[in-house]
Parts: sequence; C-alpha cells; structure tokens
Amino acid sequence: MAVDILIGLQWGDEGKGKIVDVLAPTYDIVARFQGGPNAGHTLEFEGTKHVLHQIPSGIFHPEIKNIIGNGVVLDPIVFRTEMQKLQDRGVDASQNLFVSKKASLILPSHKVLDRVSEEALGSGKIGSTLKGIGPTYQDKIGRVGLRVGDILAADFKEQYNKLVERHRKTVEFYGQTLELGEQEQNFFEAVDYLRTLQLVDSEYMINEALQSGQRILAEGAQGALLDVDFGTYPFVTSSSTIVAGACTGLGVAPKHIGEVYGIFKAYCTRVGSGPFPTELLDEVGENIRQAGREFGSTTGRPRRCGWVDLPSLKYSIMLNGVTQLNMMKADVLTEFDTIQVCTHYKLPSGEITDKVPHSMESDELQPVYETLPGWKVDLNKIEKVDELPAAFNNYLAFLEKHLQVPITIVSVGPDRKSTLRREAVNA
Ligand code: GDP
Ligand code: IMO
Ligand code: MG
Repeated sequence: MAVDILIGLQWGDEGKGKIVDVLAPTYDIVARFQGGPNAGHTLEFEGTKHVLHQIPSGIFHPEIKNIIGNGVVLDPIVFRTEMQKLQDRGVDASQNLFVSKKASLILPSHKVLDRVSEEALGSGKIGSTLKGIGPTYQDKIGRVGLRVGDILAADFKEQYNKLVERHRKTVEFYGQTLELGEQEQNFFEAVDYLRTLQLVDSEYMINEALQSGQRILAEGAQGALLDVDFGTYPFVTSSSTIVAGACTGLGVAPKHIGEVYGIFKAYCTRVGSGPFPTELLDEVGENIRQAGREFGSTTGRPRRCGWVDLPSLKYSIMLNGVTQLNMMKADVLTEFDTIQVCTHYKLPSGEITDKVPHSMESDELQPVYETLPGWKVDLNKIEKVDELPAAFNNYLAFLEKHLQVPITIVSVGPDRKSTLRREAVNA
C-alpha cells in the first residue's frame, strides 16, 4: 500500500483540514509530517467548527490512527489545550493519537526568540505567527534541540536548562531580557501530560502499517509557496512543506508515495509579509476577504486576497508531482460578473513567462490576466456535480487545460457535506 499526501499549493489556508477530514474514512492512518502550531486547520460538521493546530485532521474518526510525525515541531502547551478542547467536545483523542519521539519540542523561550527576531527585522519582518517555529527548526538543524523522546530521560530538566541558557544569551544579544514567567511552569505541566500519551517510534509504526496493507494519508501544513527551499524566501516558513517533506517528516521512502492531492482556492490568499503578484488591494480584494471570511485561523489576522495565479500553481504541481487537484471555496466568487485568472507574468525585460522567477516582487513582474465570465449562482446550494452551472464548468476546464491535472474535488462550502467529487473535463 502507498502513502497518499495532501499538500497546499498556495500560501496556506487552502482548506487542507476540511479535505483531510473528508478523505479520512478511506484511510487507516492520518499523519502530520511538518509544521506545528503555526497551522490552523478548520473542520466543520454537524453545525460545529473545530480548529486544529498540531493534531491531525483525522482525529474526529475514532477508528483512524492519527500520528504527529518526527518532522513536526510540537508545542506541549498548545497541544494540551488542543486535547482539552477536543475532550470538551466529547472526543477522547488519547487512544487514537500517537506522537513521534523524534518530533521537536517548542520551548517557551523559542517563542520569545521568534518575537525578538521579528522585532529586529523591523519592516523586513517575515510576519511569523510567533509560535516559535523558526527558532525550533533552527535548533533542530543546529543539532541542539530537544525532542519528544527526551522528556522520558531522567535529566530532561537539565537538558531543558542548558538549551534555555543558550536562548537567554541570544535574547540578550538582541538587547532584551529573557523572562518566561508562568510559561515555564505551564510547559512542565504540559510535558507531564504529554508523557502520559502514546509516544512512539512513528517511522516503524508507519512502515509496518504499510507492510500490512494499511492506507496512510499524510497531511501537509502551510503550502508549497511557503516552502523553505522553493517558496517566496525569506518570506516562508522553516520547513519542507512539499511532498519531499513527507518522506523526511515521517520516515517514508519515495517509492511508497501514491496519490498526491494538490489543494488550492479558486482565488488566492496569503497571511504575513512577502510577494503576492495577484494581490488585490482594492475593493475586489476586500469583497473576497469578506465573502470568504478570510481571517487567519491561528492569529486572526486579515488574509491578503487576490486572483488565482496559474504560474505559481504549475510550479507547485511540478514540485509535488500532484496527481489530483482539489479546488476550494469557489462559492466565495458568486457575486462577481467576471473572474480574472493570471496565466503568465510579464518581466521588466518585457518577456512573458509562465515560470516562477527567482523573485516574485511586484516591481519585478506583472501578472497577465485572462478574463472569464462569472457564474452568478450560489454554488453552496448545489448538491450534485452535474448541477454545476456552465460558466463554472468552463472555469474548471480552463484551469485543467492549463494545469494538466484533473480537478477531482470541488468544495462549495466549509461543511464536510459541501464537497463534490467529479471526473476531469479535459485534463
Ligand atoms: P487549512 O489551513 O488549509 O486547513 O485552511 P484553514 O482552515 O486555515 O482555512 C480555510 C477556511 O475556509 C476555513 O475557515 C474553512 O472552514 C473554510 N472553507 C474550507 N472549504 C471551504 C469552501 O469550499 N467554501 C467556503 N466558503 N469556505 C471553506
Ligand atoms: P496552515 O497549515 C498560512 C505564514 C506566516 C508567515 C510565514 C512564517 O494553516 O495553512 P511561521 O510562524 O511559520 O514562522 O511564519 O508563514 N504561515 C502560514 N500562513 N497558513 C499557515 O498554515 C501558515 N503557517 C505559517 O503567516 O507569513
Ligand atoms: Mg490554516
């Protein structure tokens, strides 16, 4: 059996949580392979909304095992709160959730480092979620970080103190003082809680499950354009958000990869700083933001909105080997008479390209648009794929022609049930 992977193709918040929850019943295991509490994955069903940050989006299916893989950076404090919220809703995740002993630990001091680093960058700040992601991955790569398995060691407190002393010096280098207050006590209480859960060698668990014919879905966080290598560097996150990250973040060999679901919005959004060629700074962008309720699931920040960008989607599809596309939030575009699609970029030299250049800054490229008719029908009311309006089918066919990958899922609302499966028109 294979590991299928679901990847965001834009700058995150494409609707990954929703689709993982929808696809989960056809899998035995759902596993997160990178990122941490910077993610906010929203699930809606039976009239309630749940936002998950570190726990995989298969958690509402008790028969499915959920794994937090070694590539994740885990904040025990956020994690305990997440588990408590699930408990409050009658979901006991302790039986079907497994945490890799090799996952990295986010310490309270990592969050301070994230903040002082951002402050020092001034107007060049990344727009980090301030959850300590960058500093924790830095410590991992720097080979000084702590991992979940370390909490089982008798000298964990000493290891913790040693790392915090390093952080203290770095914070002082920035001219500030490290003050952790009650965060430290919260951290150790949350670590005590974490110790009571199922801490595993997840690479063995996953490979043994594969051997025994079980089906695994790997859930990406963020999106390909936030990838540390291929995203809009330096305005990216600190992990490999592409399929390759699932290999290193779970311990899965490339030969085991099966379907790759590439998920994108019918338009485009971004939170935080960095280039965004199709960004709409006018009332059209504001209309999309309001209609799509585009406010961050983790930080509440308004998301920047713009038209769909095909060169960057082609790039993400190439990097991930996407086999099926899932288009989200088309219902948000109901009110528009026309829909713009960026098919190419125009470079300062006048050259027209459909490739993503080294820099995506707006003064270095201009989007080239094609205009398509809007559908002016509330897609959220549609329950069958053959009831979709012609203008909308035309939009799908246009995208498939350019992207050369079938759009097999069309999401028309936040609820689990607002999900249409379809055959490709002409990919
Ligand atoms: P993720 O990080 O990729 O899981 O996405 P988020 O949860 O951060 O953001 C997606 C938002 O869009 C959430 O508020 C979802 O409830 C909502 N959503 C998902 N799919 C649809 C859809 O098809 N239509 C609408 N209107 N909202 C959707
Ligand atoms: P999900 O999984 C959208 C963005 C931040 C910032 C940059 C770096 O919900 O799609 P970080 O805290 O990772 O150092 O921030 O990345 N970012 C996200 N944007 N969705 C996310 O996750 C994001 N996770 C990080 O806004 O610009
Ligand atoms: Mg999100």
